[in-house]
Amino acid sequence: MIPYGNDIEKAAQIIKAGGLVAFPTETVYGLGASAFNKVAVARIFEVKQRPSFDPLIVHISSIDQLNMLFESPIEPLVYKLAELFWPGPLTIVHKKKAGVPDIITSGLDTVAVRMPSHTTARKLIELAEIPIAAPSANRFGRISPTKPQHVQKQLTGVEYLLTSDEAVKIGIESTVVAIDGDTCNILRPGAITLEHLTNNGIKAESNKEKASKALSSPGLLKSHYAPLKPLYMFSRLPETFPSNSGIIVHSNKYNLPDNIKTAITSDNNTMTEIAANLFESLHQMEDDPSIDNIFIEVVEKNGIGIAIMDRVQKAAFHTEQRYL
Ligand code: TXA
Ligand code: MG
Repeated sequence: MIPYGNDIEKAAQIIKAGGLVAFPTETVYGLGASAFNKVAVARIFEVKQRPSFDPLIVHISSIDQLNMLFESPIEPLVYKLAELFWPGPLTIVHKKKAGVPDIITSGLDTVAVRMPSHTTARKLIELAEIPIAAPSANRFGRISPTKPQHVQKQLTGVEYLLTSDEAVKIGIESTVVAIDGDTCNILRPGAITLEHLTNNGIKAESNKEKASKALSSPGLLKSHYAPLKPLYMFSRLPETFPSNSGIIVHSNKYNLPDNIKTAITSDNNTMTEIAANLFESLHQMEDDPSIDNIFIEVVEKNGIGIAIMDRVQKAAFHTEQRYL
């Protein structure tokens, strides 16, 4: 079991000493190490069993720290995005400074940075006095963690698990955008949507072709976020389910049989609530020994629904289309 507690000072000392700390952010739990300590960052890959071609996100607590990470001149669009959306669930990919370790960027000439809004996360970075590299604190390819127990279930070899009373309120990973002059391209959908960007006067697109040129990484892999049991998507509730099924729905309008385990992510189909409870519902089904097959309702691909379905389709990749 990973030692845990809410001692931010202790967690910061561990980061400074080159250790690993799992910590909450507003999106999901991260597994952090000092971004400029290559050995510590290498241990993140080891603990997560993550392939080294998948670059990490660097977390900052103040805008000045951008100068340690992004090559100057920093595109004006970066500051515009930062002003609008930081601290918050937006990750910006920009040309990196030479000193940023290759292990963070998988040898790419760009680095991904975000300033989290979760106060515990920001305080940790502030006290560690260094940007913190942190992927989500799950094993590679598995369900992302939104609760401390999700981290405990999947990881060992971590020095400390920092907890907090403040909720992980968004529940899915940040939106990742690559800067290309005055335009940003969405590489991974998240709670900040294309509409949020364009409504704020930002030129934005979601160009898959450009994205796959920018990087070949599991953020873009077809299978990811997967539970250890078959997961099937459905759009209309099937009349019968196999025995030992667990069902995830997004409203309380269904009359589900008593003998079937059910998780309701949102009583009235509210997208932000569905996102917040999505990974938790998958963990719950994965952990229940009486469940062999998981069924999940799809949502409309609008707004945050795009990010939700990105996660659901990747989690269900191996069984996709069966019940649609
Ligand atoms: O919400 C989040 O972003 C969470 C919390 C902990 O902050 N972190 C997270 O990290 O989701 P991770 O490692 O699971 O996802 C990192 C993804 C990569 O898979 C890739 O898609 C993208 O960020 N990425 C990182 N560096 C990149 C780069 N230089 N170019 C393009 N994409 C990059
Ligand atoms: Mg991840």
